[in-house]
Amino acid sequence: MSEPFIVQSHQGPYRVEFSTALFPGLADAGPQRHYLVDAKVAALYPEQLAPVLASKSVLLIEAKEGNKSLERMPEYVTHLLGRGIKRGHILVAVGGGIVQDITCFIGAVLLRGVDWHFYPTTLLAQADSCIGSKSSINVGAFKNVVGTYTPPKRIVVSSAVLGSLPETEIRSGIGEMLKVHVIAGPAEFDRIAADYARIAADPAVLQRYIVRSLEIKRGIIEQDEFDRGIRNVMNLGHSFGHAIESATDFAVPHGIAVTIGIDMANHVAVRLGRLERKHFDRMHPVLRQNYRGFETTDIPEAAFFAAIGKDKKNTDAKLGLILPDADAIPRRTECANDETFKTACRDYFAGVRRS
Ligand SMILES: NC(=O)c1ccc[n+]([C@@H]2O[C@H](COP(=O)([O-])OP(=O)(O)OC[C@H]3O[C@@H](n4cnc5c(N)ncnc54)[C@H](O)[C@@H]3O)[C@@H](O)[C@H]2O)c1
Ligand SMILES: [Zn+2]
Repeated sequence: MSEPFIVQSHQGPYRVEFSTALFPGLADAGPQRHYLVDAKVAALYPEQLAPVLASKSVLLIEAKEGNKSLERMPEYVTHLLGRGIKRGHILVAVGGGIVQDITCFIGAVLLRGVDWHFYPTTLLAQADSCIGSKSSINVGAFKNVVGTYTPPKRIVVSSAVLGSLPETEIRSGIGEMLKVHVIAGPAEFDRIAADYARIAADPAVLQRYIVRSLEIKRGIIEQDEFDRGIRNVMNLGHSFGHAIESATDFAVPHGIAVTIGIDMANHVAVRLGRLERKHFDRMHPVLRQNYRGFETTDIPEAAFFAAIGKDKKNTDAKLGLILPDADAIPRRTECANDETFKTACRDYFAGVRRS
């Protein structure tokens, strides 16, 4: 197993530990713990989670976008207060990005701050979202519009828990891993692309790329934790991806939509004359493999364009997009939201995505 990994943050350093065991140290002695557990994970691991599930304050949460909303917060908060939560206790999240965002947000605001620990159970959360401090909460139809920067005190990444994850969720996590490797430059991307078939097949290879993905992300967030500058490149594929998620009513998992989004960013950059076609061709085969099964998913055009114009980083006339530069390194760029852009997107959906 990999060595523990330290991330520096405005609240001090925090640790990512790696383990082959399921949920090691979940019920350790120490301050009182209150658990927030993904309901599906609770059903899959009833024995291993028995002490946690029997604890009086446990909250079982279905991983639905509607549950990580400001509207649901009073219910979680009154539940925890009713079970006696105090400052100095610890919140423990067991689940993917949804349970993470809820726990992180409650940890930031409840009693003006309660420490939290995280056992990520999806590949996306293990390889990407577990570090970086962000909580992102939905309000009504607006996604991820309320949040804080509140890192957990401890993260435990367990390879054993990924065994039950559906294959598309594995590929969703690989999508975010591909993203950071694009950001790290062509040599890093080509390396993960060459190993692509082994990532899902060989746990040791998967583990290596989880650690590498976290290292690349750490290099960025330690310089720009509050997302004022270079961290914006982490949004590669996300303006497109969020619009795809929204236009399909979340029928496309997040990291798969991001994979399509990276491919679209490359395609649009070629159309705008920013990127040589060879870079699109270099990345397309592995991106396409990662979004397989979604090549023909209907993405209603009007809903897609409405959503991309409303993305929190965009306006109707101009889109702030992360597009590759001439060296295929992603950079934030202003792009006119005009017919050239729209035609490039339409051509992508109708033809390029499928071929
Ligand atoms: N705060 C951040 O930095 C950040 C970053 C990226 C994404 N996010 C958010 O994370 C959410 C997506 O998170 P996610 O992709 O981790 O998925 P998720 O939490 O939505 O879970 C995906 C599915 O996998 C199931 N599941 C979880 N662990 C499992 C396991 N071990 N075995 C079987 N099934 C399991 C869940 O019940 C759910 O059905 C989105 O809301 C996104 O906005 C947050
Ligand atoms: Zn993402």
